[in-house]
Amino acid sequence: MSGPETMRGVYLDGHEGLSSVVVGDRPKPPLGARDVLIRVAAAGINRVDLYMAYDGSGFRHELPLIMGVDGAGVIEAVGHGVTTRKPGERVVIYPAKFGEDEFSRRGDQMLSFQRSIPGENFDGTFAEYIVMPAECAFPIADTLSFRDAAVLPTAYLTAWRMVTTAGRVTQKDWVLIHGIGGGASLAALQFCKMRNARTIVTSSSDEKNAVAKGYGADVLVNYRDQDVLEEVRRATGKRGVDVVIENVGEATWETSMRAAVGGGRIVVCGATSGPNPKADLQRLFIRQLQVIGVTIGNFDEFRTLIDAAERKLFVPHFDSVYGLEEVPAALRKLDAGDHVGKIGVTVDASLGE
Ligand SMILES: NC(=O)c1ccc[n+]([C@@H]2O[C@H](COP(=O)([O-])OP(=O)(O)OC[C@H]3O[C@@H](n4cnc5c(N)ncnc54)[C@H](OP(=O)(O)O)[C@@H]3O)[C@@H](O)[C@H]2O)c1
Repeated sequence: MSGPETMRGVYLDGHEGLSSVVVGDRPKPPLGARDVLIRVAAAGINRVDLYMAYDGSGFRHELPLIMGVDGAGVIEAVGHGVTTRKPGERVVIYPAKFGEDEFSRRGDQMLSFQRSIPGENFDGTFAEYIVMPAECAFPIADTLSFRDAAVLPTAYLTAWRMVTTAGRVTQKDWVLIHGIGGGASLAALQFCKMRNARTIVTSSSDEKNAVAKGYGADVLVNYRDQDVLEEVRRATGKRGVDVVIENVGEATWETSMRAAVGGGRIVVCGATSGPNPKADLQRLFIRQLQVIGVTIGNFDEFRTLIDAAERKLFVPHFDSVYGLEEVPAALRKLDAGDHVGKIGVTVDASLGE
């Protein structure tokens, strides 16, 4: 049990992989004038948590660092300068702090020069409490469970921006989504189907593809024993796809470039298999392809996404849910790669659904 000034948390004390993940007591975070103190009810596991455990380079931070980017909970206290939020409100966390600059003024919070992310740059959500600026605590309706809300900020918001703002997917489009077992890819499939697009999904596993079929995937390809490009050509009558949802990187990039129809959009949010594929610039300019990078999303997109989740236009897909003290096991599960969709974390079940 935690004491009055301490809380339970899951933190990194090094970057040696999962052996650096510690479950223990940490100090409760101090509350600033413009902050809210959130009692965390639920959190979500992301691939970046593994990256932080194994490496973490490129992300400014100090150890020990509480892990976790995603979370939802109840406001317990507000700083003396906060008038917009109040204790008792159910909220989901926008997963970044940012500064007042040209980007945040125009509504691109994620591009702010001073952007910093929980679990990457400062203490994250795998703990009983987190402090965030009040503007980053987005109220949620009682119809939305903490479990479902907690996985919106990273995989679902990123997929939302990929499919809507960046990919501009319409019902006329064919979309190729690599690695459908992944949380971001499965979320992208759900959003493509909300727009009635035709989808080709790939996976290492027929069982994972079967889950995707349940969400309306039109063409299923097992990339272990089928040629993805050939299957794209077969499905689209040799035309190619309008949009590629790409988060795998080196292992899939060549296919992504070749699968896209002239003028097609390759939307990239990750590089799980490596960040430096052959660029294939000739194909890029001759076929007038667009490569669009996405990291998470902005406030407007987050509000729209929360509204869609509250109205049950989609429901996040969970592989499994673990307790706070079981986060190391949840990370091992993600590391093993046999999950489909999101792995959730129940931090405090006493706060309710
Ligand atoms: N920029 C951002 O804001 C942002 C946000 C979210 C995620 N990301 C990044 O996006 C990536 C995916 O994140 P996630 O949370 O969805 O991870 P995840 O749940 O671990 O999914 C990774 C998936 O990649 C697929 N994969 C691996 N190798 C593949 C290959 N050779 N061909 C096709 N698919 C392959 C696998 O699909 P199967 O199991 O179906 O084979 C695996 O399930 C990560 O690199 C993450 O860091 C970035």
